[in-house]
Amino acid sequence: MRDNIKLLAKKYGTPLFVIDLDKLEETFLKFKKAFPNSIIAYSYKTNFHPEILKALKRLGAFAEIISNQELYFTEKIGVDNNKIIFNGLGRTNKEFIESTQKNLFSININSIDELEKISSISRRLRKVVKIGLRIDPEINLHHKKSFSNSKFGIKRRDYKKAEKIIKNNRYLRLKILHSHIGTNSITPNNYVENFKALDNLAKNQITYLDLGGGFASESILNENSKSILDFGRAINKANKNRYNLIFEPGRYLIEDSCYCVTRILSIYNNWIILDLAGNFLIPLVNANYRIKTKKGKYKYNFAGNLCFAADIIQKKVYSVKLNEGELIRIDNVGAYTFSLRNNMAFPDPTIIIKRNNKYKLYKQKQTPLEIFNNIT
Ligand SMILES: Cc1ncc(COP(=O)(O)O)c(C=O)c1O
Repeated sequence: MRDNIKLLAKKYGTPLFVIDLDKLEETFLKFKKAFPNSIIAYSYKTNFHPEILKALKRLGAFAEIISNQELYFTEKIGVDNNKIIFNGLGRTNKEFIESTQKNLFSININSIDELEKISSISRRLRKVVKIGLRIDPEINLHHKKSFSNSKFGIKRRDYKKAEKIIKNNRYLRLKILHSHIGTNSITPNNYVENFKALDNLAKNQITYLDLGGGFASESILNENSKSILDFGRAINKANKNRYNLIFEPGRYLIEDSCYCVTRILSIYNNWIILDLAGNFLIPLVNANYRIKTKKGKYKYNFAGNLCFAADIIQKKVYSVKLNEGELIRIDNVGAYTFSLRNNMAFPDPTIIIKRNNKYKLYKQKQTPLEIFNNIT
């Protein structure tokens, strides 16, 4: 059932950011169906709204985090330490000590330098640490540039060096090889290639392969005549149950699970200016915001009201004629909006939670005083 945006706007005003936990649950179960025996670790950085984190915990998801700030969130949400995968890069000794003491499921190490740091900390604390190694798979991705020379992961040529450091330290336990190949992938074969690169190093001697996140959302996969089930079939076929697989989806789980309700402020030529801008709908190259209007012959560009040329929500949308004051729903807004938002000129929208088909006000739109108090 389509939500009645008129009722929502009447009750709460605009702009609204609706977090649909029913949709999140449906999406999580679809991902689980594609990978029934795998660990699903939600990537906190994609959207760390507490209601989302709590819902995913209830569904049994692990947490994929990259900082001690996110580690603190897991503590507040009550996630088991044994369900936390700590990725990251450039972590300090202080961060490593704190995470080592918590006995997490795994601390995934990004470089030889990080490996040396965690190695000396484990000796100093005399504490066993379960680790993973993030590998730069150095593969050519379909539609994308190769990842070689990125800041992410241990190069394959350094793998033997990493193995030696681990072998010489009785406190380090290598349980995972990990690699994440970027976001918005619509190509199962990218994951098969990634899997093969890790398999070549792991040689059936390591329990877990972690293939990261990066799956495009179900609606974007559907636009490309695909589904997450195609990824499941391709990856599970390559694996043949040899390894336990881990995935770290962010965008797939949350992008489709949030939508915005906005109002048209102004129309000039074919530009429609909405009351929600790029400080929330961050204009990233890989954003997939979708304006929902009735199809028609008018071609519009939709933008926010920031004095910032990149503040464009979606261009070339064919619609029926629209008028100032009308409501516009924007779909696919859950990923990298809430987590990257800022207060350039405008406040956060009102946040509404939908659960069991009921709507609840979570937080009113910020006031200028609230924002001013936060910066002073
Ligand atoms: C290591 C790692 N895992 C998972 C993710 C989540 O990616 P996505 O939101 O594309 O699924 C990211 C995103 O940057 C990441 O860096």
